Amino acid sequence: MELVLTLVVALVAAVCGNEPQGAEVDKALPDTKTIAAFVIFRHGDRTPDHEELALYPADNVLSDSIFFPYGKKALTNKGKQRSFFVGKYLRQRYDSLISKLYLPDEITIRTTDYARTKMTALTALAALYPPPPAQRWNPDLDWQPIPYNTPPYEDDDLLYWYNCPRYLWLRDKTAELPEIQKWIEPYQPLFSYLSSHTKTNITKPEDVFFLDNLFQTLKNVGVNPPEWAQQVMPKIKDVTKIEYALEFYNADLVRLASGVLMQSIVNISNSLINEPDFEAKKLYLYSGHENNVAGLMAAARVFEAHQPNYGSTFSLELRNNTKTGQFGMTAVYARNAGGPSEILPIDGCDGALFCGFDKFLTIVQDVIWSKQEMDEQCKNVTDL
Ligand SMILES: *[C@@H]1O[C@H](CO)[C@@H](O)[C@H](O)[C@H]1NC(C)=O
Ligand SMILES: *[C@@H]1O[C@H](CO)[C@@H](O)[C@H](O)[C@H]1NC(C)=O
Ligand SMILES: *[C@@H]1O[C@H](CO)[C@@H](O)[C@H](O)[C@H]1NC(C)=O
Ligand SMILES: *[C@@H]1O[C@H](CO)[C@@H](O)[C@H](O)[C@H]1NC(C)=O
Repeated sequence: MELVLTLVVALVAAVCGNEPQGAEVDKALPDTKTIAAFVIFRHGDRTPDHEELALYPADNVLSDSIFFPYGKKALTNKGKQRSFFVGKYLRQRYDSLISKLYLPDEITIRTTDYARTKMTALTALAALYPPPPAQRWNPDLDWQPIPYNTPPYEDDDLLYWYNCPRYLWLRDKTAELPEIQKWIEPYQPLFSYLSSHTKTNITKPEDVFFLDNLFQTLKNVGVNPPEWAQQVMPKIKDVTKIEYALEFYNADLVRLASGVLMQSIVNISNSLINEPDFEAKKLYLYSGHENNVAGLMAAARVFEAHQPNYGSTFSLELRNNTKTGQFGMTAVYARNAGGPSEILPIDGCDGALFCGFDKFLTIVQDVIWSKQEMDEQCKNVTDL
């Protein structure tokens, strides 16, 4: 009996657990059809990096062997499984948009210059494009190569926290605003507590967030947070949330974080709508980091402060109403790798699920700019 029950539970979990539910949510959008989708996702579970490990108290030595065979700041097997779910979700959601064959004219993939975002893209693509007979080249392998593009690290607008001194400067200045200080103030005792336990300087929400990330990434290799950290974990999570609210607090921060990406999405959509001969792709994939997911959501006015999960996937879908011919944008979020997804009401568009394209343009106007404008402004870390 127990065995049967276990089997049933396992079956139900297998069916419901990570089963993509793209078709399900479409019921909320009758008479519309996706013309192009712009999809950003966070990489899968990873091991910590050197900077995070430097926060670990020195009297608790961690052996490097715990990261074997992955190495540091690397995708784990669990991370690969989650990335695979991302690809399955994309196949289900966009099966009527793109062919089952890998057709280079239909899709483009961009990753940041990190091993983990490239490996996440490769794993997701393995699930998105298992080769149909015409592309099967090895009878023993249910896989075909799919290329991606990676801009140079130093020139990547998605890596704004490295490439844009103004962003960090502005975020820290924003943290000084009285209304933000009011959020942070109650956590000063936590900062002191964490400083004394880690023997590092924990003075701002970002420091706590890095510590939170260290604990999450150590958990990914089976190391639980120390007892002193477990005792204050809910407070640590509160501060991580504050950090996410702060990072996208105003239009200037959102523009620095995702203005170039949003402009390129809007440009492509505009061309698709207005230029009959424009050769657009159908699916634009971006394999990035949690703050890229959050940043694009903030630019689309659907963000509520939180740290996006491993494999979380956010889509902006350019849709066409098949009855009226009207074009519009829809924001779809799969909070967990593989879904289920939810359609998010767009703030500034009367909470619409299908936001008329012209209206969408007006609400993103103050957060978009070109790469050139970004590069110029990123150097500016002075008030007048
Ligand atoms: C913490 O900051 C203080 C003042 O900036 C500095 O003197 C001290 O060396 C720092 N401690 C650590 C562990 O970084
Ligand atoms: C969008 O189009 C404008 C006008 O054609 C151009 O100046 C800008 O560089 C484009 N931006 C992106 C990110 O492609
Ligand atoms: C949008 O929908 C209208 C009405 O069905 C159709 O005539 C038009 O071709 C569609 N446009 C695109 C780009 O699919
Ligand atoms: C730099 O930023 C400040 C606001 O922080 C702005 O007033 C100033 O015009 C900017 N400088 C340049 C050269 O754009």
